[in-house]
Parts: sequence; C-alpha cells; structure tokens
Amino acid sequence: MGISAVRELIDDDMKAVDEMILLRLKSDVVLINQVGHYIINSGGKRLRPMIVLLAARALGYQGSDHINLAAVIEFIHTATLLHDDVVDGSDLRRSRETANAVWGNATSVLVGDFLYSRAFEMMVEINQMRVMEILSHATNRIAEGEVLQLLNCNDPDTDEKKYREVILRKTATLFEAGARLGGVLSQAPREQEDALADYGLHLGTSFQIIDDALDYSASDEAIGKNIGDDLAEGKPTLPLIRAMQAGNTAQQALLRQAIEKGGREYIDQVLTIIESTNAIEYTSEVANADAEKAQSVLESLPSSPYRDALANLAHFAVNRSN
Ligand code: IPE
Ligand code: IPE
Ligand code: MG
Ligand code: MG
Repeated sequence: MGISAVRELIDDDMKAVDEMILLRLKSDVVLINQVGHYIINSGGKRLRPMIVLLAARALGYQGSDHINLAAVIEFIHTATLLHDDVVDGSDLRRSRETANAVWGNATSVLVGDFLYSRAFEMMVEINQMRVMEILSHATNRIAEGEVLQLLNCNDPDTDEKKYREVILRKTATLFEAGARLGGVLSQAPREQEDALADYGLHLGTSFQIIDDALDYSASDEAIGKNIGDDLAEGKPTLPLIRAMQAGNTAQQALLRQAIEKGGREYIDQVLTIIESTNAIEYTSEVANADAEKAQSVLESLPSSPYRDALANLAHFAVNRSN
C-alpha cells in the first residue's frame, strides 16, 4: 500500500477534514482569511490528520469527533509552521513564498496565534478533559523544543542526544498526540492507547530525521523548501553531527566554523564532507531504526487495513522525497 492507497482508504474522512478546516478557518478579519487560506491550501501532505483518522479507525471508532481532532492537529501544525518560518527566516515553503515573505513577520506570528487559539476553541468543544490535557501538553512541549533548538544553534558541540531531545519535542510530540487521540476517542484500553502514542513518537522522530537529511540531499523543487537552510542557521542536525564525528581533524575544524558562523559561505565544502563521511547514509539508518520501531509497536493492535495503513505511513516517512 503506497501513500495514495492510504489516502484512498480514508478518502471520505479526509474530505470531511478539509471541509472542517475551511469552515473553521473563517474570521471576519480579512487578513486572517487571506493568510489562512494561503498557507492551508498550498499543498501540505496532511500527514498528521491522516494519523488521527487512521488511529481512530484502527481501534474501531464510529463517531465524528476524529474529524474535528484531525483538523485541530493540522491547525496546530500550521501555526507552528507560520512561527517556524519567521524564526528560521525561511522564504520558501510548500513550493511558494512563505507567509512571512509575502506579508511580513508580524502577520505570520499573529495569524499563527489565531490558528493556535482556534484549535483550542475547537478542542474545548469536544468536551473531554483527556483530549484537552493531551493537546495542551503537546503544544507546550513543541514550544519547549523550539526554544531548546535555539540554544543549540551555532553550537558545534551539540551531540546526537541533544539533537534527539529537540526533535522529540518539536516534531514527534504532535505525531504522538495525534495517534494517542485516536485511542482516546475509541475508548481503547490504556495499553493500546500507549502503543499508538509510541508509534506516533517513533514515526515523528524518523520523519524529522529524514527531513534533516533532505535539507542536504534533496533539491528545492523536490521538497518545496530551500535546501541548506539548516546550515545557514547554524543548526546542528544529524547529518552535521555525524559528519563531525566521522570526519578527520581538518574536516572537523571546517564544520565547527560553518556551524558557529552559519550562513551559506561553506555550503559546498560542508556538502563534500557530508558525502565523504557517508553522513546521509548514517542519518537514514537512524531514521529507519525509528520507523521500524513505529511499525513493530503496531503489532500489538488488532489487525485491520487501518493498522496496515499506519505501518505504511512509517515506511513513507523514511522513503519520501518531499
Ligand atoms: C514540516 O512538516 C515540518 C517538519 C516537522 C519537518 P511536513 O513536511 O509534514 O509539512 P507539510 O504540512 O507537508 O507542508
Ligand atoms: C519544523 O521544524 C517546525 C516544527 C516542527 C515546530 P524545521 O524548521 O526543522 O522544519 P522545516 O524545514 O522548516 O519544515
Ligand atoms: Mg524551519
Ligand atoms: Mg525550525
């Protein structure tokens, strides 16, 4: 089952999610509608809502709150992207100019706040304390992850452990919350809910690790973002951390300087070092190990096409080109 077959399996639910997103994006403040539609309609993969839907269906959920929660998760994701592109100074996302490039930083931050708070309005409507607990905790952890990452920027001594702490919070947490919510809605036994959460955590980790590999190995066209942004920000992601570990003294010195200074001055030399140390291959292996863990925890859930689809998403996370 490829990603399109996964989408096919939950096609009706995904259409309902898109309708819900459009409905709840509305505001009588024109600029919010404009920016909201711009970012929401620009072709995101909708991976997180898919996970919410599949997790709920995998445990037999028959109600309709999974649609609302999938939209909530996509709103939170979109809010983090609006904020992230300001923080990272990025000007390309989803193959078009970022909202901050078009409207400026202030607009992006404020519309991001609108999406966050709209997501909170929607989750309160579901009227389940567990749901609010999970989502408020997740958003708080994401914020911690972004701040933690800020502290690692331009620090060449950042190691794999510190790197994992960041990605666990900034990315894996939302996948974890989305998958867990599927279990909560289904009123599944706690072990099954925890298995889904564990799946989401490993999937999200592998997803971010591959994202960090793509920043050095893909093309702008393929990922719809500017590659090399991580180095430009002096962000020590796994490809750099590995190259630093495996490189010789001269290579290590160059990498240290590139991380400390940021910018694009050293990009060609850094790419050569990444290549000669096989740092991308290493990064993929680490991501694959997480994706396999994600798949293996699913085995404790009842077998169904939805469970198979979740396993396929873990495969997609590490074998994607965008
Ligand atoms: C981008 O996430 C942010 C990361 C965690 C790397 P996605 O790659 O899921 O973004 P869209 O929604 O498909 O654009
Ligand atoms: C994405 O982080 C934003 C969050 C996970 C909060 P990155 O900065 O690593 O991802 P891209 O490359 O901009 O999508
Ligand atoms: Mg970014
Ligand atoms: Mg970032």
